[in-house]
Amino acid sequence: MCKILEMTDVTKVYHEGSVDVTAVDSVTLDLRKGEVLLLIGPSGSGKTTLLSMMGCILHPTKGEIKVDGGLVSNLLEDELPKIRKRYFGFVFQAFNLFPSLTALENIEICLRLKHWKKEKIRSEALTLLDRVGLHDRTHFHPCDLSGGEKQRVAFARAMVGDPPIILADEPTANLDSKRGMELLGLLKQYAKEFGRSVAVVSHDVKAEAVADRTIVLEDGRIKT
Ligand SMILES: Nc1ncnc2c1ncn2[C@@H]1O[C@H](COP(=O)(O)OP(=O)(O)OP(=O)(O)O)[C@@H](O)[C@H]1O
Ligand SMILES: [Mg+2]
Repeated sequence: MCKILEMTDVTKVYHEGSVDVTAVDSVTLDLRKGEVLLLIGPSGSGKTTLLSMMGCILHPTKGEIKVDGGLVSNLLEDELPKIRKRYFGFVFQAFNLFPSLTALENIEICLRLKHWKKEKIRSEALTLLDRVGLHDRTHFHPCDLSGGEKQRVAFARAMVGDPPIILADEPTANLDSKRGMELLGLLKQYAKEFGRSVAVVSHDVKAEAVADRTIVLEDGRIKT
């Protein structure tokens, strides 16, 4: 299987005053096309830090990161937004929707930010909402949506531009078990139907059922 993302010997050290915290310690892993990779581990084991480095949100202290064969870990800060825009969609635990915008508008604004042509924005936003089963919630505001529905809007937004990689940090943490499974099912469908890659951090044991591979982190290292 082809690799879309490769990390080699990646370390992240946070400097907290005079204290150094090694959050991720010499991690080597890859993300393959069409797979769902699950990252699990205790609180503080470095999952969010690892995912943030995968998504070019955070620079590694040491090590190499390649996206689609190109080295990104040596890029300057102002070159990273372009990479993030082209390759990644992000889903977080908090849904991060604009409360004053409808479900549809929350997606449209993202399409606008990604410089989609004006005349294509409405139909693409509707297609994405349909993909997550929310065609009948188009004009609802976030406060009138359930947690599961809000997360599905957030996922629809992450799919804008069909990014090759979706990174999801505890996307089911605020959902009940049924809604959590629905969301995980949608993530899996995205990987399988569209040949995209998904890396998901989850405490949810049921997430293992949708994952192709599971990596366990402990104290910033991959547990073997
Ligand atoms: N910005 C920061 N500055 C300093 N230390 C940090 C920072 N972010 C995280 N850390 C530390 O790095 C370690 C790993 O944190 P991280 O958030 O990656 O863990 P996690 O596995 O995502 O935890 P959780 O399951 O609670 O979300 C922890 O010891 C944490 O305290
Ligand atoms: Mg975390």
